[in-house]
Amino acid sequence: MKGMVFTEFLDMVEEKFSADMVDDIIDDTNPPSGAAYTAVGTYDHNELVNMVTALSKRTEIPADTLVKIFGEHVFSKFATSHQQFLVGVPNALAFLAGIEDIIHAEVIKLYPDAQLPKFKCTFIDDATLVMDYQSPRHFADLAEGLIKGCGKHFGDTLSVDRDDIHQDLTRFTVRRFNA
Ligand code: HEM
Repeated sequence: MKGMVFTEFLDMVEEKFSADMVDDIIDDTNPPSGAAYTAVGTYDHNELVNMVTALSKRTEIPADTLVKIFGEHVFSKFATSHQQFLVGVPNALAFLAGIEDIIHAEVIKLYPDAQLPKFKCTFIDDATLVMDYQSPRHFADLAEGLIKGCGKHFGDTLSVDRDDIHQDLTRFTVRRFNA
């Protein structure tokens, strides 16, 4: 997983908890990389999973909640660092529908070693998008947070229904109410 995900995560932990909490979860998990993450480096995604687990133990906030909050947070960061992806996109559903063929397709050009999930997106009607998420890394909670963060960014009211169909497939049904 790209270092930018780790640096954004640790920045969020510092912002929402403290710098000591960052040190504590690194000490707790003793990541093989040594936790000297650089934005362009690539690291084992399990280091992130372990730090989330450690943060969850220390804060008594469930791990899935923490990952969803992180997903929302990181969308706003990505929207700033990759503003070019948002130009001319009218609303959250239009953006989300292009996640596989436009957004992540550009991401892989920028970072050829990125490990991206698969999204199969289908409009049911103008205001309803079904997104089938598949990834061996099982970051459906992150996807959920990113979808919600995307809605907030566009000022759209979204409902996100989630169906964990099996371990490797989660279906999100995203409805936009201000269509
Ligand atoms: C400007 C917007 C976005 C940018 C620049 C972006 C970029 C990235 C990057 C760089 C990674 C890390 C890849 C790696 O570590 O190897 C990633 C992973 C991921 N992205 Fe995006 N992304 C964006 C929006 C979204 C949205 C809206 C969603 C959800 C619909 C999403 C879902 C995910 C998920 C779930 C992962 C984790 C990897 C996995 O599940 O296997 N991304 N993205």
